[in-house]
Amino acid sequence: MSIRIAPPLLLIFLLMIHNAFSGYWSVNYRHSHICALKNSSVIMSCTYTYPTGYQIMKVFWTNGSVKGVEPPDLSEDTEYSQRLQYLGDKQKNCTIRLSHVTQKDEHMYYFRFITDKPDKKWIGVPGVSLTVTDLQVEAPERVTEGDSVRLTCKSSCALTDRATFIWYRNSQPLTERRDRNNQLLLQSVRREDAGRYSCALQEHTYISPAAHLNVMYPPKETFVVVSPSSEIVEGDSVALSCSSDSNPPAEISWFKGGTFVGSGRIYSISNISSDHSGEYKCKSRNKHGEKNSDTVTLNIMYPPKSVSVSINGSAEIVEGDSVTLICSSDSNPPAEISWFKENQSSAVGSGQSFSALQRGCFYCEAHNQHGSQRSDAVTVTVHGVYHSQSHSATG
Ligand SMILES: *[C@@H]1O[C@H](CO)[C@@H](O)[C@H](O)[C@H]1NC(C)=O
Ligand SMILES: *[C@@H]1O[C@H](CO)[C@@H](O)[C@H](O)[C@H]1NC(C)=O
Ligand SMILES: *[C@@H]1O[C@H](CO)[C@@H](O)[C@H](O)[C@H]1NC(C)=O
Ligand SMILES: *[C@@H]1O[C@H](CO)[C@@H](O)[C@H](O)[C@H]1NC(C)=O
Ligand SMILES: *[C@@H]1O[C@H](CO)[C@@H](O)[C@H](O)[C@H]1NC(C)=O
Ligand SMILES: *[C@@H]1O[C@H](CO)[C@@H](O)[C@H](O)[C@H]1NC(C)=O
Repeated sequence: MSIRIAPPLLLIFLLMIHNAFSGYWSVNYRHSHICALKNSSVIMSCTYTYPTGYQIMKVFWTNGSVKGVEPPDLSEDTEYSQRLQYLGDKQKNCTIRLSHVTQKDEHMYYFRFITDKPDKKWIGVPGVSLTVTDLQVEAPERVTEGDSVRLTCKSSCALTDRATFIWYRNSQPLTERRDRNNQLLLQSVRREDAGRYSCALQEHTYISPAAHLNVMYPPKETFVVVSPSSEIVEGDSVALSCSSDSNPPAEISWFKGGTFVGSGRIYSISNISSDHSGEYKCKSRNKHGEKNSDTVTLNIMYPPKSVSVSINGSAEIVEGDSVTLICSSDSNPPAEISWFKENQSSAVGSGQSFSALQRGCFYCEAHNQHGSQRSDAVTVTVHGVYHSQSHSATG
């Protein structure tokens, strides 16, 4: 027949016995559950009592309390011998320290003592259960610049030791203000806050795996780089590249004088011609915003072309008169003009216009640093007095 006693009454009853006989068989653990961080040292605080008249022969900690089986002494187990340190004594203190705890250490621990009297042994049930935890950073996967972001350093059980959490970004310790004990609050997140975050406990070696914080922001600092950066000459291959800082990466559009001409980070023009001269800009855009670059001007150099001579007035002059020849050409930069008379090696003049006083075939040559081109020749006829008379005589 069993007697049922309500728990509070049972406690009073036990206390009464304890007081009455000053020496009850007991083992008391300060914590019956311990949550410890991986690789840390755990102290299992413990006291024990036994009736007077007994002498303690052996004290040890064990992992099992199976009836009929003498429980093993953990300090004799190679897994524990190096890591287990008995801090207690042979009277009442049975505190133990277990260092460098691993997941494998997660089980029950019991204190056992053996007296000099046969069969007077005691095992302290229910023992201490040890849970070993690691740390995990909990962070939102992606945030937008300006958001308020909270990172949490999580353990699978509530750590028994009250310790200060420390935070790392890209392995560098952070000094930012903490919100609550295991949280890191980034009030208005900046893009510099992006990175790999891990957490740890002060004075502990274990560091959590890193969690990546991805901070999104609209394009900024959008600008065009022209390659080659030196003078561009017709026929060159030219690449305009648009640089833009944004997250996620921006989509790029190209404009020439306000007209859309292409997309993609690089706008390339092979065999460039003077038609490509103009003002270019790129626009970068992601879902958080857009930004235009400043304009860059492409000034394409080319040698003279379409060189021709025109005559101001008539190519037939009377002796003593002159006719003005005008040379026109298209080039960049503007060409220098030289005038030649056919079958004469040295120039007879320079500049845009030339006054011809004699009969002959004249042409101009335009040249700049990229090349030269000559015009077709024009013929100037001079009617001398005699000629003109003889002409009129024949005519
Ligand atoms: C206690 O540890 C020993 C040696 O590591 C092992 O063989 C035994 O199964 C353990 N007992 C319990 C109850 O976990
Ligand atoms: C037991 O011993 C440990 C280590 O010496 C000590 O820190 C602890 O205070 C002692 N406990 C009691 C109840 O005396
Ligand atoms: C465990 O802690 C020791 C020092 O207490 C340290 O040297 C070792 O690197 C740590 N191991 C791990 C895996 O953190
Ligand atoms: C480059 O363009 C010019 C006309 O603009 C053409 O005559 C020439 O053949 C082109 N060269 C190449 C290599 O395509
Ligand atoms: C062409 O001739 C007219 C008069 O005959 C003159 O006024 C004009 O300036 C000339 N043009 C040039 C470019 O010399
Ligand atoms: C220039 O020389 C060529 C031969 O060298 C000749 O055929 C031509 O008539 C000459 N032209 C003039 C304008 O003298």
